[in-house]
Amino acid sequence: MSIEQLEDIAQAMVAPGKGIIAIDESNATIKKRFDAVGIIDTEEHRRAYREMLLTAPGLGEHISGAILYDETIRQKTKAGVPFTKVMRDAGIIPGIKVDKGTHALAGNPGELVTEGLDGLRERLKEYYALGARFAKWRAVITIGDDIPTGTCIEANSHALARYAALCQEQGLVPMVEPEVLMDGEHDIETCYEVTEVVLRSLFGALYDFNVQLEGTILKASMVVPGKDCAEQVGVDDVAEATVRCLRSAVPASLTGIVFLSGGQSDADATAHLNAINQIGAQPWPLSFSYGRAMQSAALQLWAKDMAGNFAAAQKIVVQRARDNGLAALGKLK
Ligand code: 13P
Repeated sequence: MSIEQLEDIAQAMVAPGKGIIAIDESNATIKKRFDAVGIIDTEEHRRAYREMLLTAPGLGEHISGAILYDETIRQKTKAGVPFTKVMRDAGIIPGIKVDKGTHALAGNPGELVTEGLDGLRERLKEYYALGARFAKWRAVITIGDDIPTGTCIEANSHALARYAALCQEQGLVPMVEPEVLMDGEHDIETCYEVTEVVLRSLFGALYDFNVQLEGTILKASMVVPGKDCAEQVGVDDVAEATVRCLRSAVPASLTGIVFLSGGQSDADATAHLNAINQIGAQPWPLSFSYGRAMQSAALQLWAKDMAGNFAAAQKIVVQRARDNGLAALGKLK
């Protein structure tokens, strides 16, 4: 696939007023989400839940793509239609999570590195054949006493760059996600400094590995104070710090940036995105790739009565897509 074709896909992912729904929870993570609302974690419940989300009428109006998990990309609706076909018919580009999760970084207590490079080329070939056109890899950076270290940042940037180069080789748009966690007592300035260093390291590594930024999407965390920081800040402060940090560290040739919600409330994730886009035009579209902030309200309702609340839960997820789509334009009132 040519860089122009990759660029077309990447541009469609961040089309005006559209964003991504992340439904790529690993089986371990979806079990946690199900446990919290009293759903028994079975393959059929996971399938039924993802069917509810992906078949929501009108979802494609504000959703350009959905990130799936290995199990999900192989699943079908109850009527036997592959999820990837449902998505294509709705104008939603299938994406796939391809990392194999985070593991303790040996020699660096408290820090994580993402695994999954071994055999990745073959897995990407299979995912492409299954219909995926973009792929996500999530690195996790933790802020704490004396961390993150340069070693951890570099190890994660290196892995992200190797995965991104493999994706482009195999015709998939890489969605590179270096998540700076909100956990901790650090203030917003610390989050800014760490995020800037992480992004500079990442874009250095992408350059070293000949990754074409025109066919790449960044999935970024917003610049926010730690959840346990005594000094919380206003919506406009988060928006201003986030935009300033991205402008300082992200090349203008990148196709687009989407944010993760990272544990922010639904309302905060949407308000922050709206305020970010009200600052004015930036070198790249700034949209969303929310998991929890797209799903949590719908999941809670669906959990109470899976069959009876099916349509009502779908309406909630479409409403979240609409609100976040407007926020991606800075037009939410
Ligand atoms: P959250 O929006 O719930 O953080 O999930 C997005 C995601 O895909 C994290 O990898």
